[in-house]
Amino acid sequence: MDIRTCEINLNHWYAVAQSTEITTKPLEVNLWYHSIVLYRDSKGKIHGLENRCPHRQVKLSEGKVVENFLECAYHGWQFTQEGICTFIPYLSEKQALPKCKIDNYSVQESDGFIWIFLGDKQWLESGTVKPMSIPEWEHLNYIGTVSLIDCQAHFSFLIENLMDMYHGHLHNNYQAWTEAKLKNLITTEDEVEGLYEAKSYYKIDKIWSISQLFFPRFRVLHPESLMVSYGYPHWRSTLGKDFTIYCLLCPINLTHTKAYLIHFTSLNAFHRLHKLPQWFRQFIKDKLFGTAQTMLDGLVKQDIMMIEQEQQAYAQQLKKPIYEINPTIAAVQKMIKKQLE
Ligand code: FES
Ligand SMILES: [Fe+2]
Repeated sequence: MDIRTCEINLNHWYAVAQSTEITTKPLEVNLWYHSIVLYRDSKGKIHGLENRCPHRQVKLSEGKVVENFLECAYHGWQFTQEGICTFIPYLSEKQALPKCKIDNYSVQESDGFIWIFLGDKQWLESGTVKPMSIPEWEHLNYIGTVSLIDCQAHFSFLIENLMDMYHGHLHNNYQAWTEAKLKNLITTEDEVEGLYEAKSYYKIDKIWSISQLFFPRFRVLHPESLMVSYGYPHWRSTLGKDFTIYCLLCPINLTHTKAYLIHFTSLNAFHRLHKLPQWFRQFIKDKLFGTAQTMLDGLVKQDIMMIEQEQQAYAQQLKKPIYEINPTIAAVQKMIKKQLE
């Protein structure tokens, strides 16, 4: 099996949008060759339907929500959240409603993201799969930043990039981390974990630590452990105690991958923080949201450039061997293949 033509295992929850993107105005999202229309009903609940009007096959995302029904833009047919047509404005008394039904998908909203499950409904009902948990999203001691990864490449290239921390070399100008050394590689049934020793430039222990983001002279290089984990289909990493990063995957097709990179800075080093009023901590959390945006977007841009070039080289079938020496890559590829068995 060629890793670059591996499909995804649909029996998982995938992150397709941020919560804030979904309103009563229908929105198209894409997940593994499926175009899906998402919208909120009047109670704020999110629904996901096949993005195709059964009348003339146009996208329902062009339409609007009318009293909890999704109305197609073209001739105004209306659909329930189950995908059943219940109203045609020009239906004559002699005509019956056509028995058309479009697919409806399992949708969940949690930790700031919208998750979709396209797999086997029985598997879902067994309760074994859940959307990835992101406790830092709500926790008042963590400052978040989100960056969108949108790359023309197979998702395996992205995961390999995220698991091979020797690529700190690429990001040297941002001083994200350096001198990574793989110390341990643990593979279990559904997770590959790489433990590196590395050096970090940032330390969050003073009230003015945030200034390190803007002024390199405040940064002090010091050793930290760097953990990366691929718990299929998503990724998580920690750098020392101060930083946690998630990457939520949303593969679009074999050569197009979308993903959300979420970076959290921990304020746990400030022991007296919990004594401050809740509202004030929430205010600080909201105010500082996106503080790492420039850096995160910069890292993403550099990574995308490399990942897309790998995909292009693959597409050209260069027939030249690849020399890989980081064992996490082989472990990741094995996991991707195993998920398809
Ligand atoms: S194409 Fe949707 S109502 Fe006609
Ligand atoms: Fe990177």
